[in-house]
Amino acid sequence: MTIFQLVKIALDTLYAEAVSAYGSSADAKITEQMGYLSKSYSELNQVGRKPVNYKDPATRFAYVYKYVASHGNYVVQVLNALRLELEGPIFTTESIRVSCVGGGPGSDIIALLKYLDERKATEKVKKVTCYLLDREQAWADTWTELDDSLKTDLLLHANFQPLDVTNPDSWAQQKKFLQADLFTMSYFVSEVKALDLTGVVTKFWQTLFQEAKPGALFLYDDNGHDAFNSYFDGQWKKAGLKCIIESTNQTTSPSGSEQKSDLGPYLTKFGQSPKLKTPLTYRVLRKP
Ligand SMILES: C[S@@+](CC[C@H](N)C(=O)[O-])C[C@H]1O[C@@H](n2cnc3c(N)ncnc32)[C@H](O)[C@@H]1O
Repeated sequence: MTIFQLVKIALDTLYAEAVSAYGSSADAKITEQMGYLSKSYSELNQVGRKPVNYKDPATRFAYVYKYVASHGNYVVQVLNALRLELEGPIFTTESIRVSCVGGGPGSDIIALLKYLDERKATEKVKKVTCYLLDREQAWADTWTELDDSLKTDLLLHANFQPLDVTNPDSWAQQKKFLQADLFTMSYFVSEVKALDLTGVVTKFWQTLFQEAKPGALFLYDDNGHDAFNSYFDGQWKKAGLKCIIESTNQTTSPSGSEQKSDLGPYLTKFGQSPKLKTPLTYRVLRKP
């Protein structure tokens, strides 16, 4: 199954939620929320801005429609680049833990499962325990639907855990997610950098990097803006992580078998296509 096919299944559920909330105005509301997201993303670096709000089902539909397939595909491309650099498998055990920070919409975990499925001849992973860490509880429902739809031989334990990096009370007592073999931060740093005015997000990064186990991998990818890249580079360098692969501001498109036509009737409803081509920055880091 391709990522776009999985996205279509998630969209069907979210569309039903949007129709139940907005009736015949659902399409108009979704189109409006696509505009809300685009505007919010153009202002991510503005100091004092409000956090992007994903609670509304129309907003979540808009996000999954526009961004999840491409973001998932970029993560698959980064994992393949890492594998190439390592000249062999990324994982060395049959059972792995992955923590997806800001991973509520599912893009990161779908990507990891797709990578493991495509590379099953060489990656020996059989079981994935996944922590989806996100401040927006409403994403938990979207994930439940996707979980049922994944056609893979891998055993998957997916746990949605509410966590707000700007609120230490929400993460100080959570410890399991820190034992991950891989942490993903896909389009997450740009979302919280401007909220780091008091250093509260920096405190989260420090805890994450200090308490992760030696050998843990950290995958960062984001929209290419220097402000976010240099902020994140400063955080991991301070913590003494080692960079294994990096790329800065390269124009990237979803690759391989991905076809947006899998989104069926939704493609013509909102006058907008899913995001495809974008400048992308990534880093994969390892804790020594
Ligand atoms: C742009 S989306 C990225 C989602 C996914 N990783 C991807 O690549 O498609 C940002 C995610 O971060 C979450 N988020 C925003 N602020 C957060 C915070 N302070 N703490 C935890 N999650 C947050 C949002 O709910 C949203 O799911």
